[in-house]
Amino acid sequence: MTIPMTATPESGAAHQPNDLESFWLPFTPNRAFKRAPRLVVRAKDMHYYTADGRAVLDGTAGLWCSNAGHSRDPIVAAIARQAEALDYAPAFQFAHPQAFELASRIAALAPSGLDRVFFCNSGSEAVDTALKIALAYHHVRAEGARTRLIGRERGYHGTGFGGISVGGIVNNRKFFGTLLGGVDHLPATYSREHQAFTKGEPHWGAHLADDLERIVALHDAATIAAVIVEPMAGSTGVLPPPQGYLQRLRAICDRHGILLIFDEVITGFGRLGHAFAAERYGVTPDLIAFAKGVTSGSVPMGGVIAREGVYNAFMRGPEQTIELFHGYTYSAHPLACAAGLAALDLYRDENLFERARKLEPLFADAAMALKELPGVLDIRTVGLTAGIDLAPRPGAPGARAAEAMNRAFHDEGLMIRITGDTIALCPPLIVREAQIGEMFVKVAKVIRAVT
Ligand SMILES: Cc1ncc(COP(=O)(O)O)c(C=O)c1O
Repeated sequence: MTIPMTATPESGAAHQPNDLESFWLPFTPNRAFKRAPRLVVRAKDMHYYTADGRAVLDGTAGLWCSNAGHSRDPIVAAIARQAEALDYAPAFQFAHPQAFELASRIAALAPSGLDRVFFCNSGSEAVDTALKIALAYHHVRAEGARTRLIGRERGYHGTGFGGISVGGIVNNRKFFGTLLGGVDHLPATYSREHQAFTKGEPHWGAHLADDLERIVALHDAATIAAVIVEPMAGSTGVLPPPQGYLQRLRAICDRHGILLIFDEVITGFGRLGHAFAAERYGVTPDLIAFAKGVTSGSVPMGGVIAREGVYNAFMRGPEQTIELFHGYTYSAHPLACAAGLAALDLYRDENLFERARKLEPLFADAAMALKELPGVLDIRTVGLTAGIDLAPRPGAPGARAAEAMNRAFHDEGLMIRITGDTIALCPPLIVREAQIGEMFVKVAKVIRAVT
């Protein structure tokens, strides 16, 4: 199949064949996609546009990342200016001013005490960086026996070997060999029986954090480096933390000298109505992994924010010694730093985190209005995020939601995200009240159509 060209003849690219064969799409059924592609060629604010000019309302902030909306003028201009002035600078042994400026700005948004920022290029790299910092932290403090990492069932921490090892999604793990050794998992926090149709954090489930004590008793605290959780698990279908759960995890980690890592790749930069979920829940981890919203999705960037004490533990030995043998060619890439600074300006100037907080009740009500639709098993909401579980078709798990996504895109002009038979909605934080209404009307139509 030939697809519409977006390149101009002057660019030379128009002379190249543009078909669907070469690109191996990630996390996508390639053959089905290539038979009926969902293509976008342009985006602005709350909308994507197809080659024939059809507007598609963005119900997913791209992939949980475009929190300030799409192709925002200040971000586009900042990237262009930076490309002109300094396209690349190494971050090993050299640096550029925007890297320091962005690190300071991120530290200022993070909970007090977390103020050292390590940059990388994605959420997966952020997670692997956080895990490596945790392991090395214990090593440099002569507690090198602390090598175990504890994740959680249904956790998603990206696709690096560290991330899939601590992650808890079977399909992301079972194809890839033995993964990291010495990893254990907490139980997932979701129970439909006890939590169905909860707005925000469910009452039931704080006790599940106590399973960490069982794991400590099994392995001994002296062998455990860190616990990593998403404050709100996004990718497995929007699972807000039970009330008090994160506080209990923090207390158990403190009791046993275990580092607590929050993977805030989705929850960072306003998704739950605060700069970080750590602030919403009043729980301060030792490390925060971030990505996505830091540049509003415009240029790849991720990173880790560390407690000052973690950073300081490395600052020993002769001054000429490299303290952490880790980093990426594109750590603190100038274009990403410029995009990040412009995105943070937008979040501040347009009060977007506060806006998400204010819109949360309206968003939750609009989502819960779908409760009585046929085949809806559960709806969960938190911040500007909703998960809607559909009853799977007998013998065809995921098929109903896949059809819903397809119909939403082609028939309703709405981008939704699916995992299994769960629909996730997480629009840019600039979404207007009327657009929230429009989104859920469209989702309701689609759910009726696939039932
Ligand atoms: C919680 C969490 N961690 C890590 C990642 C991985 O991020 P990336 O796809 O940028 O590697 C994601 C991606 O959705 C995520 O949701």
